[in-house]
Amino acid sequence: MKKIIDYIEAELGAAFEKAGYSRSLAKAAVSNRPDLCEYQCNGAMAGAKTYHKAPLMIAEDVIESLTERKYIGEITAVKPGFINIKLDKQAVASYLNEMRGTEDLGIEKDKEPQIIMVDYGGPNVAKPLHVGHLRSAIIGESVKRIAKKVGHKVLGDIHLGDWGYQMGLIITELKERSPKLPYFDEAFEGEYPKEAPFTISELEEIYPTASAKAKEDDGYRENALHATYLLQNGHKGYTAVWKHIMKVSVTDLKKNYDNLNVEFDLWKGESDAQSDIPDMIERLKEDGFARIDQGALVIDVQEESDTKEIPPCMVQKSDGASLYGTTDLATLVQRMRDYEPDKVIYVADKRQELHFVQVFRAAKKSGIVPQKMGLSFMGFGTMNGKDGKPFKTREGGIMRLENLIADIEEEMYKKITDNRTVEEAEAKATAKIVGLAAIKYGDLSNQASKDYVFDVDRFTSFEGNTGPYILYTIVRIKSILNKYTVEGNKLDGLCIAGADSGGEKALMLEAAKYNDVMTVAYEELAPHKICAYIYDLANAFNRFYHETKILAQEDTKKKESYIALLILVKEILEACIDVLGFEAPERM
Ligand code: ARG
Repeated sequence: MKKIIDYIEAELGAAFEKAGYSRSLAKAAVSNRPDLCEYQCNGAMAGAKTYHKAPLMIAEDVIESLTERKYIGEITAVKPGFINIKLDKQAVASYLNEMRGTEDLGIEKDKEPQIIMVDYGGPNVAKPLHVGHLRSAIIGESVKRIAKKVGHKVLGDIHLGDWGYQMGLIITELKERSPKLPYFDEAFEGEYPKEAPFTISELEEIYPTASAKAKEDDGYRENALHATYLLQNGHKGYTAVWKHIMKVSVTDLKKNYDNLNVEFDLWKGESDAQSDIPDMIERLKEDGFARIDQGALVIDVQEESDTKEIPPCMVQKSDGASLYGTTDLATLVQRMRDYEPDKVIYVADKRQELHFVQVFRAAKKSGIVPQKMGLSFMGFGTMNGKDGKPFKTREGGIMRLENLIADIEEEMYKKITDNRTVEEAEAKATAKIVGLAAIKYGDLSNQASKDYVFDVDRFTSFEGNTGPYILYTIVRIKSILNKYTVEGNKLDGLCIAGADSGGEKALMLEAAKYNDVMTVAYEELAPHKICAYIYDLANAFNRFYHETKILAQEDTKKKESYIALLILVKEILEACIDVLGFEAPERM
């Protein structure tokens, strides 16, 4: 559906033109003086210079020339030349009824749907998930859902870190502990066991132990590096161990991401790109895109317009080893071949920005991806504790994701059962749903690139700009609708009528912004704009709720209109939290 603001601008545009001014001046915006008007146009001021006229005169001319006006209700020119607009209440009501009649509440689907890959999550196999990976998962999942919502074909890829030194460390430690395992017997010819020689908790203990040992013991470190090298060159026994590590870890990761309501379409990883590396390197050399620099192979990516130095993208170390950038370039080779995406969005810590600038430039320069390909990096800031330092456990250790979620759920459980009798099982289930909303909203309501403070007390509060507040609002609407049907009424066939009160109209105008907000959130990769919007919408609803007798309304038509509006508001809120990656309980 067209946006309300487009209708306003069309009506204004015709008036500007009729009065002899350029149509391009007819830009409207939500008013920054909501006490005076709902929308405003500053075009008369912008045109004063061109037309050598006082802005107020232009504004008055425009208003006089306004002939077709379905959306524009009251319109006034005020000093020094603002055009203040209030919308026609019937037009707003019919706009909302039209939204309700469409499949997706009026969302305008992109006219040229693209294939978009979102590279997010990015956990490193066999290392426990930490809070940085939490941010990538939450933000990436939301970006993926927003892009889908506006009509694109989207593939989310977890891009596992599954090919590095951590694998060599685990193999080395395992070999020290159980040297008799067949994986370490070079003469072994039989079939390797189907069962992994470790559980996930053992694995999670093996990795840090090995990592600590390697830091202290050079010989151990050499062994681990050599094991990594052998694995990467196809060593049979190590490959079998690697497969066990993958299977055990991926099962555990799936469980973790399930709990977060995060779902990947593709479970590819760095290892999947390895087979493309040799050809890619050959081609880069042959076509002259890469050059040797102190024994290493690099691609220059500095551009004339750069104000700071962008070092070359390294694709091969002097010892022949691949690097992070090599894998990302080869992954693009593989993605182009298998999915032909129009765009790839990478969600990772913002400290990786330079890496992505280098990779993107190298990929375009060398023709690995076409020039017109969209490559965007969405870098996120650090999640800090209340002390302003990166979030840690109370003991100062790295916070594991599972523990963080458990802490929030416990806090939610306390709040839900506080002063109330709720059945234990229901309270637990609700705490899980609301806890997830608290975490995700707490994260997504900040602009992704900024650092933020993870504040359990604030995030779990039922008041203020929080996930639980949004859910509470949805639950409140559900309960009103429930009572309405219990009284013997039907929810279908209802129609929204023109607003009678300021609070009702304000709620309607908020609801009408849905389509616009979703488009902007996609274009700017800004889930925080959806959070800001549902906070405003929830506030507008709660104000209306406190000012209005809804179920006690005697005029049936009026009451039906309220209910229809509530249904729409609930559906918008639900659609928004769905793209943010959480849901609302029935009660709380
Ligand atoms: N595994 C990486 C990390 O933990 C993140 C991967 C980001 N994606 C990418 N294509 N490089 O930092």
